[in-house]
Amino acid sequence: MRVIIQSDPSTVGIWTARHIAEAIRMAASQNKPFILGLATGSTPIPTYAELVRMHKEEGLSFAHVTTFNMDEYVGLPQEHPESYHSFMWKNLFSHIDIPHGNVNILNGNANDLLQECANYERLIAAAGGIDLFLGGIGVDGHLAFNEPFSSLSSRTRVMNLTIDTRIVNSRFFDGDINAVPKQALTVGVATVCDARQVVLLATGYAKATALKHTVEGEVSHVWTASALQMHPDAIIVCDEPASDNLKVSTYKYFKEIETER
Ligand code: GLP
Repeated sequence: MRVIIQSDPSTVGIWTARHIAEAIRMAASQNKPFILGLATGSTPIPTYAELVRMHKEEGLSFAHVTTFNMDEYVGLPQEHPESYHSFMWKNLFSHIDIPHGNVNILNGNANDLLQECANYERLIAAAGGIDLFLGGIGVDGHLAFNEPFSSLSSRTRVMNLTIDTRIVNSRFFDGDINAVPKQALTVGVATVCDARQVVLLATGYAKATALKHTVEGEVSHVWTASALQMHPDAIIVCDEPASDNLKVSTYKYFKEIETER
C-alpha cells in the first residue's frame, strides 16, 4: 500500500487527477480502452474539477474511457439532485467527451434489484475488469456503501444503510435523515478489490479514525476499507488532517518514502 499525504483537499484532487490522467493517456497511447471505477461524495469533487480542467485546457480525452460508479441510492429518482446519477453528470460527465453509452451507474429504481446487481458484475467482467477504481471512505470506514460487517468477499448487492451513514449523508438532504434513502445498491468489497489498482481518497479530520484503521489496523470487516491491505496495488491519497491519527512513525515512513520516489 502507498499512502500519499498532501496538504489539503485541493492538492489531493490535483495529485489524483494527474495520476488518473496519466493512466488514461497511457491506455490511449496503446490503443486500449480504459475502465475507470468512480465514487461520489464530497471528497472526489476536487479530483473531478481537475479532470474537467485538464479536458478543457490540456485536451485530456475520455473518448475511450468506460466508467462504472460504485453505488446508487435505492428508490431515489435519477433526476433527484442528490441521486448519484445527478452528481456524476453535474460534476464530471457533462463537462467531458465521454460517450454516454460508456457510463455505467447502478439503477436504484430497477424492478428487479438483484438482477440489476448481478448484471452489473457481468458488465464489469465483459468490459475486461476495472483498471483503476477511485473510492472514498465513510466516517465508519465504509468503502462504497459496504457498511461495517460487510463481507470482504462481497459482490454488488442491495445494502441497508446504517443510521450513522444516513445521519452523515443527511447534510445533502437539508439535514432531514428521513429524506435519506434507507437502502443503496453498491459494488462489493471484492468488486473493488478486483480492480487492477484502487485509489482511495480521504480528506478532513472526520476521516482520521477510519484512515487509521484502514492503514494501521487489522484487516477486518468492521472497517471494510481495511481490505485494501490485501490489494497488490492500493494507493491512499489523503490530506494532513485525515492523517492526524496515524502513528508518528507511520506518518514519517510514508512521507519519506514518497519524497524519495
Ligand atoms: C457515501 C458514498 C461513499 C463515500 C462516502 C464518503 O457514503 N457511498 O462512496 O466514500 O459517502 O463521502 P464524503 O466524500 O462526502 O465524505
